[in-house]
Amino acid sequence: MRSAFPLVRTPHPVPEAERASILAAPGFGRHFTDHMASAVWTPEVGWHDHGVSALRPFSLHPSAAVLHYAQEVFEGLKAYRHDDGSVWLFRPERNARRFARSAERMALPTLPEDDFLAGIEALVRADEPWVPAATGERSLYLRPFMFAAESFLGVRPAERVVYSVIACPAEPYFPSGDNGVTLWVSTSYTRAGQGGTGDSKCGGNYGAGLAAQVEAERHGCDQVLYLDGAGEQGCVEESGAMNLFLITSDGELVTPALGTILEGVTRDTVLTLAPEYGLTPVARPVTFEELREGLADGTITEAFASGTAAVLTSVVGIKGEGYAWTVGTGKQGERTAALRERVLGIQYGRVEDSHGWLRRVV
Ligand code: COI
Repeated sequence: MRSAFPLVRTPHPVPEAERASILAAPGFGRHFTDHMASAVWTPEVGWHDHGVSALRPFSLHPSAAVLHYAQEVFEGLKAYRHDDGSVWLFRPERNARRFARSAERMALPTLPEDDFLAGIEALVRADEPWVPAATGERSLYLRPFMFAAESFLGVRPAERVVYSVIACPAEPYFPSGDNGVTLWVSTSYTRAGQGGTGDSKCGGNYGAGLAAQVEAERHGCDQVLYLDGAGEQGCVEESGAMNLFLITSDGELVTPALGTILEGVTRDTVLTLAPEYGLTPVARPVTFEELREGLADGTITEAFASGTAAVLTSVVGIKGEGYAWTVGTGKQGERTAALRERVLGIQYGRVEDSHGWLRRVV
């Protein structure tokens, strides 16, 4: 049975004028709404204390397990305002499923998918005025997460776990917008290995990627492109916060196969839409050598990265130790632009949702 997340409204919401000024230029992940959803799990009671209440700091004992062993998972999805004022989620069931899989991998309790959806919907309803108008690709970014809150030192799964959802009005993740991004191929750092946590959305993956991100920025790049453990003799995996796609001159849309990478919701969306754009979707291992050759001989004509925060962002350059390659024309490619427009069009209700991906909340 779906749990309710009863609302206790904050007596101190952000004043309307201040909210309006935040919504005019929200950035990404800088301003948060008035409320948060939460629930608690213990082995004796299971999930309990579901609710939506004022956004507030957590009170954690310094020995709380998450602070020591990073037992934590999260998700990212968005609520979109349509022109008629209604508010919609995009394929949230897939986030619910992935959240459950990530939790299992991190030995956290599973939150029923219905409860995952109920908590998100309750928060969006409570903070509906915070959902920006669609202008400038703005949306309300939702961050569900779960962490080990038990106080103890000792390595075992925690017996007190907190689930929460917070929300922030958001602009595109990359301020460079349609100009595209340049990726840095790191040979110093890998992201994942067989049997590791590469296909889970856990905080530890992102924490472990920060040094590589710093390295990328030091080389003037926006994000890292990870290789597998075999380095330049092996395969390309994904970018820190996004899945990678290549478009070839013979009409294939190629993306690294699942296994050690994150199963992106936008990744699946793009693979599903590809045939409607004359592209054959192919998920398979992609070697670094094939990337190098394809960019050199022009058989790779476009590249882009996909993610909830990044939507579809064209990859216009790829750099590494001793090389700097331009992808295609060095600008957003035509097919990338068309797929991007379509995904955004569905999300914002501008084109028909022919796959039934939207879920109305308000
Ligand atoms: C997302 O795309 O939602 C992500 O979680 C990526 C990033 C903001 C960490």
